[in-house]
Amino acid sequence: MSDNRLLTDLHVSYIQGLDKKKESFEYWAGEHLRLNGVYWGLTSLHLLKHESALDSNEVIEYVLACRHSNGAFGGHTGHDAHLLYTLSAVQILCTLDALDRIDRDQTAKYVASLQQPDGSFAGDEYSEIDTRFSYCALSCLSLLGKLQAPFVDISKAVTFIHSCKNFDGGYGSVPGAESHSGQIFCCVGALAIVVFIFIVPKHEKTTNDTARAPQLSQNRLDLVETDRLAWWLAERQLKNGGLNGRPEKLEDVCYSWWVLSCLSILDRIHWINREKLVQFILNAQDTDTGGIADRPGDVSDVFHTLFGIAGLSLLGYPGLEPVDPRYCMPVKVLQRLGIPDQP
Ligand code: FPP
Ligand code: ZN
Repeated sequence: MSDNRLLTDLHVSYIQGLDKKKESFEYWAGEHLRLNGVYWGLTSLHLLKHESALDSNEVIEYVLACRHSNGAFGGHTGHDAHLLYTLSAVQILCTLDALDRIDRDQTAKYVASLQQPDGSFAGDEYSEIDTRFSYCALSCLSLLGKLQAPFVDISKAVTFIHSCKNFDGGYGSVPGAESHSGQIFCCVGALAIVVFIFIVPKHEKTTNDTARAPQLSQNRLDLVETDRLAWWLAERQLKNGGLNGRPEKLEDVCYSWWVLSCLSILDRIHWINREKLVQFILNAQDTDTGGIADRPGDVSDVFHTLFGIAGLSLLGYPGLEPVDPRYCMPVKVLQRLGIPDQP
């Protein structure tokens, strides 16, 4: 049920209360992804403009307690390291302006060590290859200010992502895998983040020497089939206003992020019905406990709370902090880090 406005205060107390539910099943069931949960909750609070609702020092100490001696992070204290948690840790430290609490070079070396000869990334020393991990690695290195050689081979990373592009303009988890909006966010987001230097080859005609000087490219979105992909993404909107992740699937609030962030990066956010999506997200709020669910009537959780709020921010809902569609973090955090705005 919804009363058709964003219940900011209720969502703030819902997020503050998550930490106190230590007896509950959900708390222990979610232990392996606790650090992701902290990123989802903290980012929601910053987008809601309630930055002080959690104790920053406590959060920073918790993140540091999840750190391994090689600079990687686990999902909770004593848990195995993985790129998914390392990205969340770096995002939290950036948001709280505490990146100086870690050895950035060491964490960047860990991330880069997971790059494979074909340019793809594994999530950890054992795990499978997935474009989710390409995104985690490139976003993490960018936030650390280390998106450059010798840490990583950007050109190969881009080649691998490009090899996951499908006939419909979308992207899958590996070459040949079905297009899925979550993976599309990872691929388009990564292509929007990569910054690299290229040199015009000597044999190409140049009018003067400056044309041959190293050039800085802000992204590799030139590889995306913009209109074909944006059409596929816009078709994800169903009659009830919600977005699904693939054809024939149910609508889900988290796709308000995975789909909308890509449309925003591609400058095609106006291709979906804004009003209907805003209402769908607001209808998925839990008016008793706070938080947002995957769809109206379901139980809320912190994952869908973030992606509902971040979706509303992209849609220009009043009173929210602007979110960067490439990083799913407040724009002002990226500006403080000196990361250029999306061109
Ligand atoms: C859908 O998952 C979502 C994805 C596959 C994308 C996940 C993206 C990351 C882990 C990168 C980090 C993200 C951010 C925002 C910083 P699902 O398992 O819910 O898919 P389903 O709907 O098909 O079940
Ligand atoms: Zn979902």
